[in-house]
Amino acid sequence: MYNVQRIKDMKVLVATEKPFAKVAVDGIRKVAEQAGYELALLEKYTDKQQLLQAVADADALIIRSDKVDAEVLDAARKLRIVVRAGAGYDNIDLAAATAHDVVAMNTPGQNANAVAELALGLMVYAVRNFYNGTSGTELRGKTLGIHAFGNVGRNVARIAQGFGMRVVAFDAYCPDEAMTAAGVTPVHSAEELYAQSDVVSLHIPATDETRHSINAALVGRMPKGGVLVNTARKEVIDEESLIALMQERTDLRYVTDIMPDSDAKFRTLFEGRYFATPKKMGAQTAEANINAGIAAANQIVDFIENGNTRFRVN
Ligand code: 3PG
Repeated sequence: MYNVQRIKDMKVLVATEKPFAKVAVDGIRKVAEQAGYELALLEKYTDKQQLLQAVADADALIIRSDKVDAEVLDAARKLRIVVRAGAGYDNIDLAAATAHDVVAMNTPGQNANAVAELALGLMVYAVRNFYNGTSGTELRGKTLGIHAFGNVGRNVARIAQGFGMRVVAFDAYCPDEAMTAAGVTPVHSAEELYAQSDVVSLHIPATDETRHSINAALVGRMPKGGVLVNTARKEVIDEESLIALMQERTDLRYVTDIMPDSDAKFRTLFEGRYFATPKKMGAQTAEANINAGIAAANQIVDFIENGNTRFRVN
């Protein structure tokens, strides 16, 4: 029995255009109700107006890739905290959140294994020629370059080592020791990483610094038959530059979990060398939904009850 506390005047809204698995929502509800909070759900909404209405009386908000901009924050007059159940928080206008006195958090690491497993799945799919019946190649013995060694990158390294890949990584913010301790060889520039790697897996966040940073000059350094895997963000790719490169380098392949703006162009030009999931699927497992969703709910309760701001990002 968990619904024993008196309901406080505290409402948590879960607003997910791409919903969590039901089992995760049940877990979130349990955490909220145990604290005496009310839980409201807005799933699969198609119009921003629905979100603006739903946030009007919410004290706390749990989202995924849902956009929380100044307009949403204006509409959320009671809001104290927004938690992005996941890693990347580029969908939250952090300055606007701070201006509205709203704490923004993420749940780092909670969905990392799910994303990493999907990255390896995309690699296998690419090197086996998209399962078209022809002979592909194996991952064993190939070099994998991990671009950014955060929670997802580390999980990708662990799984890739099981495949027998040699793993190298570049991350300007991560000490070499953290990589070597994980059996990964550090390299000291993105250029070096791409030049060494048969497969590159992207795990950089979308920031002003990284936007459009993955371009022909970089990817063009990859050896013959190179595969670029993107489970990070579409914004980090310079799409026009990558398209120009792939026209020139007919050996290169691009597989992504985030459909590019120029998806139609990629599909037309690069049949058999390009694949994008119709909807971002990396974190879409029951386990990741449970981990990230329940962590978000716990962080909200701990913030409201105890003022804990450990995972604050603004
Ligand atoms: C993340 O940043 O956590 C991942 O990209 C997953 O995003 P999603 O919750 O929208 O699937």
